[in-house]
Amino acid sequence: VTTAADVLANRAPWSCECADALEWLGALPDDSVDLLFTSPPYELARTYGIGERMVGGQAWVDWMVAVVRAAAPKVKGLIAVNCEGQTRNYSYSGVPFLLFADLHRAGFNMRKPPVFHRVGIPGSGGPDWLRNDYEPVICVTREGRLPWSDNTACGDVPKYAPGGEMSHRTGDGTRRNVFGVRTDKAIGTRTTGNKGESETYRTESLKLSRTKQSPGREGESEQYTPPVKANPGNVLYIPVGGGLMGSPHAHENEAPFPLELPTFFILSFCPPGGVVADCFGGSGTTIDAAVQNGRRGVSCDVRQSQVELAGRRMRNVTPSLFGE
Ligand SMILES: C[S@@+](CC[C@H](N)C(=O)[O-])C[C@H]1O[C@@H](n2cnc3c(N)ncnc32)[C@H](O)[C@@H]1O
Repeated sequence: VTTAADVLANRAPWSCECADALEWLGALPDDSVDLLFTSPPYELARTYGIGERMVGGQAWVDWMVAVVRAAAPKVKGLIAVNCEGQTRNYSYSGVPFLLFADLHRAGFNMRKPPVFHRVGIPGSGGPDWLRNDYEPVICVTREGRLPWSDNTACGDVPKYAPGGEMSHRTGDGTRRNVFGVRTDKAIGTRTTGNKGESETYRTESLKLSRTKQSPGREGESEQYTPPVKANPGNVLYIPVGGGLMGSPHAHENEAPFPLELPTFFILSFCPPGGVVADCFGGSGTTIDAAVQNGRRGVSCDVRQSQVELAGRRMRNVTPSLFGE
């Protein structure tokens, strides 16, 4: 059986162990994981035959705070928890928001939760309420900038190159591009508001050079190269349902997420060759996304049936770039 220790020592691309999330996280070495992406069992909705372990409401929130606390020393980068509450008797438990609040109160450094827009799910509306199309992804990081990120990895090619086309209207109705000038091939100056610094822009249709004139740093200039892809924003439109989950094995778990969801977070927040963890591994979607994208994956699930399911799934996955 391959263990997380094998993966961390670069002897294997992935592992899935039968363990309780809290115990498994506790056994990982500090700073051994680049990204934790996971989706815990949602309150009492799914007992998975281990009902005594399942908790709802505030007890669920307390349990998840403990899971994040156990993960925090192990994860250098982002801890991301995709979760949802329940609606019963026309009342929503709101546990993702309670979890956000309790993590915040417990002193964790929160990031604004991205929205997983589950295109295609009829959802949990009701006779008097709206269909539910989204779930939040609660995000915690250490303080300061993330050690690694690529926030344009999953964006689309921008519609216009910077400076090439107008992007917005100002209050008087004039169209401006993102650098505040009216046309391409124009020169503009603006004060940045940063200790009296001013910046001069020269825009051409496909590239933009920027000269910074800062007190004491005269003549410094930098070339701005526009990214190939634009920042995709924090609403992730991902279709779900039969044939869209990324693997036929996913449907053997009661509540899988689509392969595209962890893929987004892995490409954006785990460096190539890095380690992605999922402490509620289910059918192995996260480790699948990790090894398909040149990362390593470690996971656990409390049910042996899910560990075997993930193993069957991973037999068909070819690691990309592993060992290079
Ligand atoms: C929402 S599912 C995860 C599905 C997974 N993301 C996928 O795509 O297949 C939650 C999983 O957590 C597992 N689980 C429940 N309690 C657990 C615990 N205490 N420790 C580890 N895993 C647990 C369940 O067996 C279930 O497979």
